[in-house]
Amino acid sequence: MSWFGNYIKSSIGAKHLMAITGLMLLGFVLAHMLGNLQIFMGQAAINAYAVKLQSLGVLLWIMRGGLVLAVLVHIYSAMRLVSMNSAARPVKYKMAFKDKSSFASRTMKWGGIILILFLIFHLVQLTLGGGPLKANFNLLDEYGRHDVYNMTVLGFQNVAVAASYLVAMLVLCFHLSHGVTSLFQSLGINHPKYNGMIKMAGPSIATLVLIGNCSMPIAVLAGWVKATV
Ligand code: HEM
Repeated sequence: MSWFGNYIKSSIGAKHLMAITGLMLLGFVLAHMLGNLQIFMGQAAINAYAVKLQSLGVLLWIMRGGLVLAVLVHIYSAMRLVSMNSAARPVKYKMAFKDKSSFASRTMKWGGIILILFLIFHLVQLTLGGGPLKANFNLLDEYGRHDVYNMTVLGFQNVAVAASYLVAMLVLCFHLSHGVTSLFQSLGINHPKYNGMIKMAGPSIATLVLIGNCSMPIAVLAGWVKATV
């Protein structure tokens, strides 16, 4: 087998793939959040932003394809690492050791599964226009543009929808808190001078994403951001 084939099949190859795809997904989450925060600038701003995104045409489809591939490779590498770890230790420890790992690191698998379920719900609701809120998906603004503003605000006015976003964002926060710090380790990025900063990178970025994403459903529930229809 070629050097590359051996590398991809190894546990270090799987760790590198997880880290690189994790970095791509983090980039999307940050860019998506910054785009969505334009909801605070009003209907005109966020609807114009959505039109700009759609006008990327082929480039948008290439980005969507890259994102789907990154999600699939991320999940596949995680599954391979779990099975390699259990193959390396087929018999569980007989003695009970006190588990010193953090809550975030112990919940990576279930967190990941909940995030996939959230993503399916999110895409059905806001990209495919299905589900119980599908009437909001066909709204147009005064310029005949897809009314992303009212679609999102009316969605969050439904308390069950808003609550499910808040829970999913908490899960995302734990996932990023451990994931971002461990991606540095997987890529072999460490230096005694910067290790403190690297350790804090995960929790800090995760908290920023939590605050940014939760601010939207909270603002709608509190009546600070209102529908215009
Ligand atoms: C409060 C948080 C969020 C809000 C308000 C939000 C809002 C939206 C909206 C309005 C769309 C449709 C855009 C359009 O039709 O132009 C969308 C699409 C999407 N969202 Fe979110 N989102 C949030 C969080 C997330 C998170 C955490 C993820 C990933 C883990 C995510 C992944 C996606 C994806 C993959 C799409 C499809 C993009 C595309 O069609 O190209 N979103 N989101």
